[in-house]
Amino acid sequence: MTDPYNHTFPPARILGIESSCDETAAAVIENGRMILSSVVASQVDIHVKYGGVFPEIASRQHVLTIYGVIEQALQQAHLSLPDLDAIAVTRGPGLAGSLVVGVNAAKGLVLATGLPLIGVNHLEGHIYSAWAHGADVPNPPLPPEFPLMALLVSGGHTELNLVTDHLKYQRLGATLDDAAGEAFDKVARLLGLPYPGGPSIQMAAEQGNPHAFNFPRARLDGTWNFSFSGLKTSVLRLIQKYEEEGKRLPVEDMAASFQAAVVDVLLTKTLKAAEAHGCKSILVAGGVSANRALRTAFLAQQQIPVSIPPFSLTTDNAAMIATAGYYRFVLGQRDSLDMDVLPTWPLS
Ligand SMILES: Nc1ncnc2c1ncn2[C@@H]1O[C@H](COP(=O)(O)OP(=O)(O)OP(=O)(O)O)[C@@H](O)[C@H]1O
Ligand SMILES: [Mg+2]
Repeated sequence: MTDPYNHTFPPARILGIESSCDETAAAVIENGRMILSSVVASQVDIHVKYGGVFPEIASRQHVLTIYGVIEQALQQAHLSLPDLDAIAVTRGPGLAGSLVVGVNAAKGLVLATGLPLIGVNHLEGHIYSAWAHGADVPNPPLPPEFPLMALLVSGGHTELNLVTDHLKYQRLGATLDDAAGEAFDKVARLLGLPYPGGPSIQMAAEQGNPHAFNFPRARLDGTWNFSFSGLKTSVLRLIQKYEEEGKRLPVEDMAASFQAAVVDVLLTKTLKAAEAHGCKSILVAGGVSANRALRTAFLAQQQIPVSIPPFSLTTDNAAMIATAGYYRFVLGQRDSLDMDVLPTWPLS
């Protein structure tokens, strides 16, 4: 099998399993790109009353759903276990009690079948979501070209990674405080918008004026780091001012102005980093890459080609884990049954 950039890799079908946070997911990927199935059981309705993920409940829920989700993924792909070449599973980073459920399920299947076990980094999974496409997509977009600048923006991470080739990552910078997704979630709570905050802020923002408030942008020039805590504090101060004055909160304008500040910083810094490192493409991935304003801003610039995964692959899923697992598999990685979870595993 040859990819559009003349890398040649063998054909393989990989089952991916993901359980790092509050989504239980399984998927089958063929040849590192084509999604034969992708099943995601979200726990969002269970955690909504806590306003965030309750770790103990998340791991119990994974235990209840994981085998059903795996079975469904195999059924939808019209395959059974002997048709597979390997089993890839998220090893970290994530909640230890949640990761253990996926890793143990994968080990059980490996013991029963003798298939190779491949541990995958969840963040690398987000990066590889840009390679995956549905079997029904007639002309899938080309995968991003190396060297690429990967902006990872999710609930737990915001970082810039230079990716020079498959599985070769160099972290250039990261958030010094809140992740972008975390900032969306916290500001949504401050504004009285429902959990999860990202989609709520986006919806409110679409009714508001992004220029209504000039919220601060932490540029942190001379580094590739980010910071969102000052922005969050600035939103809080404004809310307090409105409350002291007994005025109605302009929620939509505040959401739009907050979102514009986040998008501005992410776009400016990523473009600069890509240029500084001679990148041929930019990749934006992770839950926050679902944000419509962010997608529009990145796709509107003309300086450099941008890949953003389809909406369905932006938040946690197993198609991205199986895709990353494919490259680890064909490049020779094999893990043993002693493989443990790595809740704080960095990408590089
Ligand atoms: N449309 C959107 N706009 C902005 N943020 C969004 C949107 N949709 C989802 N998010 C944010 O994405 C985050 C969830 O992303 P993801 O599932 O990748 O995070 P995670 O897996 O919990 O964290 P990590 O990948 O860092 O371990 C949440 O913070 C959520 O608010
Ligand atoms: Mg994630």
